Amino acid sequence: MKFTILIIFFVFPIAFADLRVGFYSSSCPRAEEIVRQVVQRNFNQDRTVTGALLRMHFHDCFVRGCDASILIDSTKGNSSEKDAGANGTVRGFEVIDEAKRILERLCPSTVSCADIITLATRDSVSMAGGPRYDVATGRRDGLVSRSSEVNLPGPGSSVSQALQVFTANGMSLDQMVTLLGAHTVGVAHCSFFRDRLGDPNMDPSLRAVLGRICRPTGRNPTVFLDQNTSFVFDNEFYKQIVLKRGVLFLDQQLALDPSSRGLVSSLAGDDAGFRRSFVDAIVKMGNIRVLVGNDGEIRRNCRVFNSPF
Ligand code: HEM
Ligand SMILES: *[C@@H]1O[C@H](CO)[C@@H](O)[C@H](O)[C@H]1NC(C)=O
Ligand SMILES: *[C@@H]1O[C@H](CO)[C@@H](O)[C@H](O)[C@H]1NC(C)=O
Ligand SMILES: *[C@@H]1O[C@H](CO)[C@@H](O)[C@H](O)[C@H]1NC(C)=O
Repeated sequence: MKFTILIIFFVFPIAFADLRVGFYSSSCPRAEEIVRQVVQRNFNQDRTVTGALLRMHFHDCFVRGCDASILIDSTKGNSSEKDAGANGTVRGFEVIDEAKRILERLCPSTVSCADIITLATRDSVSMAGGPRYDVATGRRDGLVSRSSEVNLPGPGSSVSQALQVFTANGMSLDQMVTLLGAHTVGVAHCSFFRDRLGDPNMDPSLRAVLGRICRPTGRNPTVFLDQNTSFVFDNEFYKQIVLKRGVLFLDQQLALDPSSRGLVSSLAGDDAGFRRSFVDAIVKMGNIRVLVGNDGEIRRNCRVFNSPF
């Protein structure tokens, strides 16, 4: 008995630092329930909230680790991550604000904004029909957010260019291909793919549809990234790109590039396998360079750093 306790005590902290499932179970027992309720309310009104939160989580974790640096608003002298090139269209900030407002009333200065993003993303995936999974919590909020540090791959990247950014964040090619399956939900603005409306690697009927939506200049409407089951978290994205029905250049390249097309065809044929791999990959993404213990802070307002006083 004593021996078991010693093993748990010594082995787990090394493997998981201070992140653990149920981190708030005594400090704020209703934390996960509150986040889920807020996400559910928003999801009931607008099912595209799943896409919004997944992309926010990715953009947060890939800049300085999952530290809620994506949530900081720019100020006069400081341009935050929200104002970087990849920025503009990240959305869903008010969902995080709403959860934070309730949690600050219930358990002041306890639940980090970085954990709220992670939990809200997890909940929104299952609401869209995706896998349910546990996530470890205990992340702390970062003290820096600079637009100049945002270095995310663009939609015109090749598979190998995108992979460089994933590798720099400790993620493999398989994990990148699996995480891009998140494009099974959510939307893209015409400005991100208008340049490929003449691409021979696009199914002509898709090209006709996208052309009609995007042609009017001066406007920048959105289309679904998965043109078939647009609101459902499933492996349809992979089936669509196999049919040359990928909207973004990179998405289509996944099905064409020799390094990734084998995995794409196996994910297209195995929804259960996709779900399992997606859980592993997104849990790993959620652990990128997290702040724990006494690092960083617990922000009171997710959009601004706490004042030093
Ligand atoms: C190489 C990597 C990636 C590239 C180049 C990329 C690119 C893009 C682009 C251009 C959009 C359209 C944004 C807009 O018009 O508002 C988009 C949307 C989206 N991305 Fe990615 N993405 C990548 C990886 C990921 C990853 C890893 C995830 C999540 C795990 C993700 C989740 C999403 C989601 C859910 C949307 C829809 C957003 C919405 O509905 O507002 N993406 N992505
Ligand atoms: C804002 O910018 C100034 C000058 O670039 C810098 O010294 C300061 O640390 C920045 N503040 C934050 C909160 O990032
Ligand atoms: C996004 O970033 C670009 C370039 O830094 C900037 O011009 C644009 O205003 C930003 N968009 C939004 C909505 O903040
Ligand atoms: C759309 O998805 C459904 C259900 O997964 C499938 O049966 C159908 O063949 C798909 N249609 C297209 C055009 O891809």
